[in-house]
Amino acid sequence: METVTGDSISPYKLLLRALTLIPISHYLLFAFFASIVYVYNLLEIHILQDFFGGFGGDSVSLTFHSSSDLYREVVSKCNLLHGRYLATPWLSSPHLQTILLNVLVKTPSFSYKRSYAVAIKLSYSTRTLFTSVESKILDVDRFQADPDDTSFQVNGTNTVADIPLVIVVPGLTSDSTSPEQINHFIIFACHHVTSLYIKEIAYNMAKHGWNVVVSNHRGLGGVPLTSECFYTAGKSDDLGEVVNHLHRSHPETPLYAVGTSLGANILVKYLGEDGVNVPLVGAVSISNPWDLLIGDRFFTRAIMQRFYNRVLGNSLKGAAKLHQETYTRLSDWEGIEKSRSIRDFNNYSARIAGNFETIDAFHRWASSARLVTNVSVPLLCVNAIDDPVCTDESIPWDECRKNKNIVLATTQHGGHIAFFEGMSGKSLWWIRVVEEFLSKLHASPSMSKQQMQKFKESDSLSRDNKKSV
Ligand SMILES: *[C@@H]1O[C@H](CO)[C@@H](O)[C@H](O)[C@H]1NC(C)=O
Ligand SMILES: *[C@@H]1O[C@H](CO)[C@@H](O)[C@H](O)[C@H]1NC(C)=O
Ligand SMILES: *[C@@H]1O[C@H](CO)[C@@H](O)[C@H](O)[C@H]1NC(C)=O
Repeated sequence: METVTGDSISPYKLLLRALTLIPISHYLLFAFFASIVYVYNLLEIHILQDFFGGFGGDSVSLTFHSSSDLYREVVSKCNLLHGRYLATPWLSSPHLQTILLNVLVKTPSFSYKRSYAVAIKLSYSTRTLFTSVESKILDVDRFQADPDDTSFQVNGTNTVADIPLVIVVPGLTSDSTSPEQINHFIIFACHHVTSLYIKEIAYNMAKHGWNVVVSNHRGLGGVPLTSECFYTAGKSDDLGEVVNHLHRSHPETPLYAVGTSLGANILVKYLGEDGVNVPLVGAVSISNPWDLLIGDRFFTRAIMQRFYNRVLGNSLKGAAKLHQETYTRLSDWEGIEKSRSIRDFNNYSARIAGNFETIDAFHRWASSARLVTNVSVPLLCVNAIDDPVCTDESIPWDECRKNKNIVLATTQHGGHIAFFEGMSGKSLWWIRVVEEFLSKLHASPSMSKQQMQKFKESDSLSRDNKKSV
């Protein structure tokens, strides 16, 4: 029997020697491809998927009650909701869409450049501060177009009966102007810092002949906090006051509302809380977080979500700094300053100010998902499944299917309030969806006229009640 001894070498040494024979440039090439694969996965890029699908996009998925009048009368006539959505090929990543939202949305289409500037300037020079009964100051920006500008369909500068009015509810820390919000986080170009998409939706609705009011959150939009209270993720009573005020001052005007991101949560929460008493003809919710408890857990999961959590937490801190005195009086300012996430921020501000035992109790209370079944006005909800900020795990599918007033539209891609489309990446799909849905809803006699009739009856009923008291 022979045994191998002496000059036998270890297989590992052999392998090592083989590896040293591979040129360094091959290693670099390998590292390069590995990092491409890493970034591709990290940013959830789907360009290859789109390529193999022939850049045809994905069809929009609709969820609704089988005997929904809203679907039959309105949504069935919306071409965009029965078409396909394809993300701009060079933005085929929910993260790129979300992060670049405020970099790429600059001006609407080229030919409206001049009127855009004029309209935006006008809208801020005609700001109305409206003082409600409890002497709280809420800020309502009214968007009005230059009457001499023929590219606008808006007639006159006043809210005239019959011209529908849409109330826009911005998201977390964003408002219609945001001049004081432009801090160092602008480098991340997070849409919550400067809210160009709010101007985009206001501009687009005005262009189509609507009056637009942006309902800024308490303390944002350059308005002082005048009462012992600040806005939180679940603060829906301010919106209720704005809507009721507009309804009282313009009883003949059909009112609609659009909420984006956290603004959608506040809007849907209000619709659910006030139920049949909401004087709106219809509403749209875009990229609603729905369930803040699930959303909060989602924020701690992956590396990109932790990044958004940090950025948004910082932008909340920045917005709170404008009203440091009030926050100090009502909550724990030291805690707020130390906050490194949205959860921390809310734990030291909204939880304390609202007397919630735990932060999750606040999250449960503030979530619009629990009020979906009580919504009594026609409501379209749009969410992207790949939304990197508001997870699809929060979407209340069953409740939406159960409520005949709701149609839920979901797309495979689109990111958070982005939905870029076209090669140039200048157009946002959701802005067109809102306009088409609201116009079809407004034109539908059985839906909008019926709703207006209902308000008239309940208004005269409440007047009669007051008389008899
Ligand atoms: C505004 O007036 C013009 C002409 O007077 C009319 O064609 C247009 O339909 C009006 N727009 C709205 C929204 O009423
Ligand atoms: C549902 O709406 C009604 C009004 O239609 C309201 O009185 C009720 O409080 C709402 N329910 C909840 C849970 O807010
Ligand atoms: C919330 O804040 C309180 C102090 O006000 C602290 O004791 C608690 O640990 C915080 N909770 C979380 C989840 O950070």
